[in-house]
Amino acid sequence: MIFLDVFYMISMAFFIRRVNAFQSNFRSFNFNRLFSTAKSSPYYITTPIFYVNGNPHIGHAYSLVVADTIARFNRMDHKDVFFLSGTDEHGQKVERSAASSKLSPIDYCTIQSNKFRELCYKLGASNDDFIRTTEERHKNTVLEVWKKLQCNGYIYRGVYEGYYAIKDECFYDKSELVDGKAPTGAEVEWVSEDSYFFRLSAFTNTLQAHCASHPQFIIPSTRMNSVVSFLNQPGGLRDLSISRTSFSWGIEIPSSESDTDKDRHVVYVWLDALINYLTPLGYQLDASNNLIDSATRSKYWPADLHVIGKDILTFHAVFWPAFLLALGLDPPRQILAHGWWTQGGEKMSKSVGNVVDPFQYISQYGQDSFRYFLLSEGTVSADNDFTEQHFIKRVNSHLANDLGNLVQRSLSMIAKNCNGVVQVPDFNHLDAHSLALLRLAEDALTQSRLHVGEGNIHKMCECVFNMVRSCNKYFDECAPWTLVSSDPAKLSVVLYVTVEAIRRIAILLTPIVPGACSAIFDQIGVPSDMRSFQSISRHITDPCSIVKTPKPIFPRIPVKK
Ligand code: MSP
Repeated sequence: MIFLDVFYMISMAFFIRRVNAFQSNFRSFNFNRLFSTAKSSPYYITTPIFYVNGNPHIGHAYSLVVADTIARFNRMDHKDVFFLSGTDEHGQKVERSAASSKLSPIDYCTIQSNKFRELCYKLGASNDDFIRTTEERHKNTVLEVWKKLQCNGYIYRGVYEGYYAIKDECFYDKSELVDGKAPTGAEVEWVSEDSYFFRLSAFTNTLQAHCASHPQFIIPSTRMNSVVSFLNQPGGLRDLSISRTSFSWGIEIPSSESDTDKDRHVVYVWLDALINYLTPLGYQLDASNNLIDSATRSKYWPADLHVIGKDILTFHAVFWPAFLLALGLDPPRQILAHGWWTQGGEKMSKSVGNVVDPFQYISQYGQDSFRYFLLSEGTVSADNDFTEQHFIKRVNSHLANDLGNLVQRSLSMIAKNCNGVVQVPDFNHLDAHSLALLRLAEDALTQSRLHVGEGNIHKMCECVFNMVRSCNKYFDECAPWTLVSSDPAKLSVVLYVTVEAIRRIAILLTPIVPGACSAIFDQIGVPSDMRSFQSISRHITDPCSIVKTPKPIFPRIPVKK
């Protein structure tokens, strides 16, 4: 024991001496961060899980990049982020697509699911997990959830008679049909089958009260209205059929002894799908059907944000919170329901042949250009129209002209006139013009936090590009090319300030165009600790070494005449 104590004291003394030496060498190092006991707060964000009955399209890409940008932003803001995406693989629609491809359902799902995984990769999505609803971990969770709902008295057996739209995987009442079709335009078929029901009706009042007391539950706030009117329907919410017997591609519910083969129920695909959000966090019951504690679940549940499209809002804002309340869990904190991408104002559809293929755009124009276009042109509160002309115009004007040019012309000047090295000026004597430019970054970060919190990524893009334009103006007004022989000291200050502003712009743009920003940081030799939000208002204090031959970050897309 004594020997261990002495050993401990000697090593501590040695360690403290090393720390002191280290501190005096690196005055800028933040020791509070190293020894801080404050934990970063958890942040759980998800995308919808994508149906595998078709190929990935721009709509899926949009849900993914919006969620990815918010996830990256929160990571840079020191949150402990868990970001989930994945694929929705059960149900009648997938079963039929597999049959028409002459593949077994699982082989079909694996092929299709891999395409969505590839989409995540090609878009640079930073998801921490990718869930498939055909995985064992998910099937187990669904069965445990089912058991708990049953145990809590929320499931009963009956017969479902009504309409079903396979395209929407949704039940409709006759009163909801419009010209014999679902309100979404999907074909419906009459269904009469044995079914288990969920007592959704028990939650009408609780959900109405939840929406009233949580005005931020659904963003943009304009979408709250549709949820409130769904909750206020005459007679309140109707119980929901949560199992199907007319096909088999789903998670089978353990049958009771009296059941025959034809009574085999599979879980309704939307209950199955929504539970994906719990699966990675762990959901398991003990022998008395009590929920076993899970550190990951206590850390990340309730989810902070479900990013979805407006078409699946009722499932997320009504059914999902009701399932959770029935389980004794909290509803998600917030749902962001974005609008749709259209082509020439028309809904995209395979049959019309106007679906935008994200892979084609990424391979032709690059990941960052595609991300930037979707995020800056798309407004989450409205539908957005996609045209290749708009795409090229925006990418050329913002990325190639404004940002790309700024980086290229300033770095080329440094390479040519300063041997690739930017000297650090005396900060106490920086002129007001330069200081005002650098300070724009802090304001842009404060505003970006507000915009991202409201899901308005396009507004964040706007405020960062205002700074890009101010930086171009600064460069033009200072005209460093006129200072090369007349005033080398001023030249050095202008180039330093420009590079420093570019560093700050790249920090702000990292959640939006991560690949391009990391290339910018590399070209201007920014150390890793100066690429974070925390470093946005600190100055680089060592001379920066710029690459000898700067490469254009965003080459201009040639415009066809
Ligand atoms: N599988 C369900 C989601 C289950 S989540 C528990 C589903 N899948 S989907 O593949 O059809 O749609 C995935 C996402 O893509 C949805 O958020 C949907 O709104 C979005 N989009 C599909 N087409 C779209 C556009 N044309 N434009 C924008 N987003 C749209 O629904």
